[in-house]
Amino acid sequence: SLVTSGHLRHVESMAQLPSGAGKISHLNAVILGEALASEENDLVFPSPEFSAQALVSSPEQYQQMYRRSIEEPADFWSDIASQFFWKEKWHPEVYAENIDVRKGTVKIEWFKGATTNICYNALDRNVEAGNGGKIAIYWEGNEPGQDGQLTYAELLDKVCQLSNYLKHVGVGKGDAVVIYLPMLMELPIAMLACARIGAVHSVVFAGFSAESLAQRILDCKPKVVITCNAVRRGPKTIHLKEIVDSALTDCAKDGVSVGLCLTYENQSAMEREATKWQEGRDVWWQDVVPKFSTKCLVEWVDAEDPLFLLYTSGSTGKPKGVLHTTGGYMVYTATTFKYAFDYKPSDIYWCTADCGWITGHSYVTYGPLLNGATIVVFEGYVTRYSRKSLRVLGSVGEPINPSAWRWFFNVVGDSRCPISDTWWQTETGGFMIAPLPGAWPQKPGSATFPFFGVLPVIVDEKGNEIEGECSGYLCIKKSWPGAFRTLYGDHERFETTYFKPFPGYYFTGDGCSRDQDGYYWLTGRVDDVINVSGHRIGTAEVESALVSHPQCAEAAVVGVEHEVKGQGIYAFVTLVEGVPYSEELRKNLILAVRNQIGAFAAPDKIHWAPGLPKTRSGKIMRRILRKIASRQLDELGDTSTLADPSVVDQLIALSDR
Ligand code: WTA
Repeated sequence: SLVTSGHLRHVESMAQLPSGAGKISHLNAVILGEALASEENDLVFPSPEFSAQALVSSPEQYQQMYRRSIEEPADFWSDIASQFFWKEKWHPEVYAENIDVRKGTVKIEWFKGATTNICYNALDRNVEAGNGGKIAIYWEGNEPGQDGQLTYAELLDKVCQLSNYLKHVGVGKGDAVVIYLPMLMELPIAMLACARIGAVHSVVFAGFSAESLAQRILDCKPKVVITCNAVRRGPKTIHLKEIVDSALTDCAKDGVSVGLCLTYENQSAMEREATKWQEGRDVWWQDVVPKFSTKCLVEWVDAEDPLFLLYTSGSTGKPKGVLHTTGGYMVYTATTFKYAFDYKPSDIYWCTADCGWITGHSYVTYGPLLNGATIVVFEGYVTRYSRKSLRVLGSVGEPINPSAWRWFFNVVGDSRCPISDTWWQTETGGFMIAPLPGAWPQKPGSATFPFFGVLPVIVDEKGNEIEGECSGYLCIKKSWPGAFRTLYGDHERFETTYFKPFPGYYFTGDGCSRDQDGYYWLTGRVDDVINVSGHRIGTAEVESALVSHPQCAEAAVVGVEHEVKGQGIYAFVTLVEGVPYSEELRKNLILAVRNQIGAFAAPDKIHWAPGLPKTRSGKIMRRILRKIASRQLDELGDTSTLADPSVVDQLIALSDR
């Protein structure tokens, strides 16, 4: 299988096929030149054949383009932006920014004053250019034999029908729509349909629980929730609609009622008759959407109008609604896609990410379609394919260690395909540090160099930039088109979280080092965010789920190294006085987290803690908990500042319960 290592959250892969070639099962149709990439010391060079055909084929060419992107950003980006359709051009400036909190409110604007539409650019523009017959999406379902495909023209028709339906039920520009769907073609269709009419989509990953879904609905107050009745995950049937029902019931109690739940009948998973139904609120997609016209006029929006909200974990309990706007995001995702994967029109591109995460937004849906690419949308897991046609591999989501990198390179890529190890975040919209595959010799485990227009700096604890070979905190010094513009409804939290820690910079929350050759090496989060198989989980979210259990008095969660998942979740729990710790309670605590957040956030270990190590002012010393969790007991450091140092010995004694 192409994705077997838990270290690789997303494997984006490209295969070269003659355009219009049949089905995805023919991924091995074209065998590329067999020239092997060569390895010298710890450098892995792209093959000369690859570099020769690449969009950027040498370090010099990259450097020249990069220099221009930093020195003349307005010209650089407006040249690129001109390749898109704008109803009106931006004015007066290409961009305006203040990312220095000391100078006032943080504000980032790109192509302000211009009007455009990202759905128009992704679909109509490609159809009008004569590519209506090109396959836009190959869909592969959970069960072998379940598949489908849509050309650009067909996709446009389907999107227009849904857009018309949404308009018909009163969804307009600026209205939020929550999408809670698995990886069916209807998921990108729903995103694009919202974008077409200027509505703001907020996709919630279909692995999130009813409570997490409710939290997001309460925050963005959508007019419509789009879901399906059920989905099959392997042998199991998950009743998504029932999860939505329960979320909507909770929201109504909190004063937010959603009047419409548009439900796609996913026949392969569940019969319509078996689906619980609320008349008046629930509507079958198949009953209404196909009745609408396949033509729908585009809503032209300002480049700075919101495109979508995507909730992500932060270091405090409440998830953050990361807000992306239209113009800059469009230009940035399209451009990063093109260069990081050295995209050619005949490529078939597959990104294994789910549209519930940012990768599925930028590199399943928008980035590839804006380039007119053929994408693969995959619902289930991967069966066996020949890998001979693969050209470029990608990885994202967490530090990929050199041995996983070599496995990916040697086994998946037959020692031939360059790897794009792309560092970025929900907040950044697109790739920030990533190798251009034909340009750079790679170092396994390094994301290499910044993308065009990105100015990374490494700062020390005091916020001073450090030069040359060093390690510290990764910050960005200047805005880029794909940057998020705010946290929905909470600009203050946006400034506090990202711009106040190191004034003058955007703080990424990641640690990083730079080696003597200038390569960047990401070392992981430096805040209270854990990265489990690439899923971003805030320790505070897990803690609040644990303490919601009536017998749990207090919880402290830390990340520990995990062989498969990268990081695992390790939870220390203090029980309500008089409650004994038992196996049943342990299971129920884990269940509490599954129910509140989702199965992917279930703790790997529950450690019963009669007391937690706290300072005299009552602050939990997580540093000590991390050492206990990872059994680095000789590195506990100074424990004398604790209010009660004896809890440490007690915790160590209880380690194996
Ligand atoms: C981590 C995912 C090392 C990082 C696109 C970041 C990475 C967080 C890499 C964002 C990489 C992402 N190497 N670490 N190539 N890519 N990360 O918002 O800690 O889900 O801050 O976006 O993932 O996670 P998010």
